[in-house]
Amino acid sequence: MSASPSIAIAGGGIIGVSTAWRLAQRGFRVAVFDQGNMGGEASWAGAGMLALGGEIDEPSELARLAVESRRLYPAFIRELVETSGLAIDFQELGAIDLAYSAAELAALESRAAGQATMGIDSKPVLPAQVASFWPRVRTEGLLGARFYPGDGLVNPREVVVALCAVCRKLGVRFLQNCAVESVSDGGADVQITSADGVATFRAAVVAAGAWSGAIVVNPVPVPASFPVKGHLLGYQQPSQTCNTIIRHGHTYLMQRTNGFLIAGASVEHAGFDRHIDSQIAAQLAMAAGFVMPHLLETTPTETWVGFRPASEKLRLGRWQSSNVYLAYGHYRNGILLAPVTAERLAEEISADLGIG
Ligand code: GLY
Repeated sequence: MSASPSIAIAGGGIIGVSTAWRLAQRGFRVAVFDQGNMGGEASWAGAGMLALGGEIDEPSELARLAVESRRLYPAFIRELVETSGLAIDFQELGAIDLAYSAAELAALESRAAGQATMGIDSKPVLPAQVASFWPRVRTEGLLGARFYPGDGLVNPREVVVALCAVCRKLGVRFLQNCAVESVSDGGADVQITSADGVATFRAAVVAAGAWSGAIVVNPVPVPASFPVKGHLLGYQQPSQTCNTIIRHGHTYLMQRTNGFLIAGASVEHAGFDRHIDSQIAAQLAMAAGFVMPHLLETTPTETWVGFRPASEKLRLGRWQSSNVYLAYGHYRNGILLAPVTAERLAEEISADLGIG
């Protein structure tokens, strides 16, 4: 009997590791390479919003997949929790979008009308209802709001820890501090060059987030990727301070079950600059404090940055009829898109290689 095909995954974030899980479940032998620790970059930095309402404005391939992935999320988390035995903070609590001017209200309403055609439901909320159900939210000047019952959140750090645990049970190999430098497609297989040396696999998946485009892929280079930096703030707060996700313009607030309240996020084209900019952090704190005035009296306990994995568009699937598959360019929605990305890729690779 011949051994099952081996797959190398370049990138151990939530996308790479969830793909590893689904491939291993189908019988593939999988190795995941990461330049640092598994889940140590965007999956560590991301707030973990599963927020079609906040993130999806117009129809696109990414939008369609995001809607499908949101539907998959409860079962994805249930299966992960059951098979890993680990807890994951997953809250299906909805989100409210706030409008403090006529222009903001008109924009909310027109966006909601477009979203409804994509199956993203929302309903109007009156300022008096906001005052009753979101008592910490600023109501001075509030003209209206919309509630998105389908939005939720998850702790992506816990998801990656659980994914690594279930992968290990299925024999997935993790190579940390071991960046993939190049992938050479030889027709029948691929050669991976990494800090671990050169190794041969049946196929490779490029899932290295913002670093994906830097991997040298032969003979056909893969499309470029780039980082979009975001600053986030964390506050330790009493539970139920944020009883749903709360959004105003580009600012969002959300709270983990343990009380940690996250305010995000800046959008910066600054390359891989890990510097925390106190001015940007202060602007974010002001924006968070505008929505929840009591936060103006509170100092954030943490400030951090992350690199959203951007590309010109979502890169998902087989690359140019080769043995190389792409899974990057998820930009603001990598956490949300992990379940559907993993399922789609595992299906496609199984079909191409004739197993599963
Ligand atoms: N998905 C939220 C963000 O990228 O800031």
